[in-house]
Amino acid sequence: MSEHAVNPWVAIAYLVAGIFFILALRGLSHPTASRRGNRFGMAGMLIAVVTTLVTHVIASLPEMLIAIALGAVIGLTTARKIAMTAMPQLVAAFHSLVGLAAVLVATAAFLDPGGFGIVDAAGNILAVSRVELMLGAAIGAITFSGSVIAFAKLNGNMSGAPILLPGRHVINLGTIVAILGITAFYAAVPQAAAGEGWMFWTALALAFAVGFLLIIPIGGADMPVVVSMLNSYSGWAAAAMGFTLHNTAMIITGALVGASGAILSYIMCRAMNRSFISVIAGGFGAESGSGAEGERIDRPWKRGSAEDAAWIMKEAQQVIIIPGYGMAVAQAQHVLREMGDLLKAQGVTVKYAIHPVAGRMPGHMNVLLAEANVPYDDVFELEDINGEFAQTDVAFIIGANDVVNPAAKTDRSSPIYGMPVFDVEKAKAIFFIKRSMSGVGYAGVDNEVFYMDQTMMLLADAKKMVEDVVKALQH
Ligand code: TAP
Repeated sequence: MSEHAVNPWVAIAYLVAGIFFILALRGLSHPTASRRGNRFGMAGMLIAVVTTLVTHVIASLPEMLIAIALGAVIGLTTARKIAMTAMPQLVAAFHSLVGLAAVLVATAAFLDPGGFGIVDAAGNILAVSRVELMLGAAIGAITFSGSVIAFAKLNGNMSGAPILLPGRHVINLGTIVAILGITAFYAAVPQAAAGEGWMFWTALALAFAVGFLLIIPIGGADMPVVVSMLNSYSGWAAAAMGFTLHNTAMIITGALVGASGAILSYIMCRAMNRSFISVIAGGFGAESGSGAEGERIDRPWKRGSAEDAAWIMKEAQQVIIIPGYGMAVAQAQHVLREMGDLLKAQGVTVKYAIHPVAGRMPGHMNVLLAEANVPYDDVFELEDINGEFAQTDVAFIIGANDVVNPAAKTDRSSPIYGMPVFDVEKAKAIFFIKRSMSGVGYAGVDNEVFYMDQTMMLLADAKKMVEDVVKALQH
């Protein structure tokens, strides 16, 4: 089952696969190179899978082919059917499968260590393998239960609001320390003294509980960090299992996923102004269950029309467009680019401002704008454009909400407090597209911008509204 005596051809093939994975990650770091990156990733995975299949006696060929065909059909159907807006929950579901796979491999190795070649002459599981097994199973279980909760929150099966248990930090820390303690004890004592496996099963059960406990307190706008953190965990779980299976490809791939997920989590933490350590500890940004939800009172606001927007924007020198989740829901990116092109043709400077957590997945807005052929030079990151709002005539907000909410700067009780946001309130005029005044953003809080003097609310589906603006611009 495992290849202890390393066949040099296998090592070379896995190394080549590893190089393809690195090239894939490099490609995925920019929208222009991302398709190429994906192709590198697929080629690397093909090399790794074929090498593993031809060099290991895993199962009979027909069994393997049936499994591959089943997986391919499920993968293809899901990829074709899934809406772009449901990508984050799909990613969370995939992470849960990686976690579960790690748990199953660890359990199989624990139940049949001889079959996995991890026993000494006396038939006891090697001490180092016991550590790998326990860690792989624990990280896998945390990834699984954490991802299931993340899926339920993102998919609307459970409320996105934080569930705060009293003393949760102590409970989380205590449980993690217990898992590490059991692992150390299990590795240190001879197997005969380790009993009938209660240590493995107890650590596994505690790890499932930790995944659950770490994610239920996460609420408000902090989900993006959680998804990338679970991505990282799934990689480390796979790497730990790679050690148990003596499979270098799994170690390399797992480490790459783990490290890149950790880097992404770090970047997201910086974007959200959250501390990396408190994210790993769970329950950050949720000290109180407050926020402005429910506190909304009737306040005056102004309704604008597509004609108002067209008229004011074509007189403007600079318009900054801020897309958000609602643009993705409405699939308004193509008509938005058309609007931008019409304005540019009238001599208006048009820029697109992208917040790192706009939408529901990292790079969500970049992908949609790239799909609509918005020139990359017109697209700016938060820190590069935020200083320009004071000299901007129009901030055109399309389906964004949390990422332009000034409560993040001023209201300590807000669940998004501390997250950097666009300074749209500094623009001379603001057009705010959303469907109704009662709809809220992901964090579920009211937004002061709706009621500002210079704001005109454009209440409609984003695509329909921008189509109307385009028509008005053409007249
Ligand atoms: P949100 O704050 O979620 O606001 C979306 C807005 O779009 C709402 O105002 C909604 O109002 C409007 N909307 C929805 N469908 C629409 C449609 N068809 N036409 C017009 N408007 C529509 O979006 P955002 O500003 O992009 O912020 C993202 C939020 O999601 C952040 O809190 C972020 O932390 C969180 N999040 C991000 C990620 C990643 S990685 N990006 C992952 C998970 C969560 P109506 O309902 O009234 O139309």
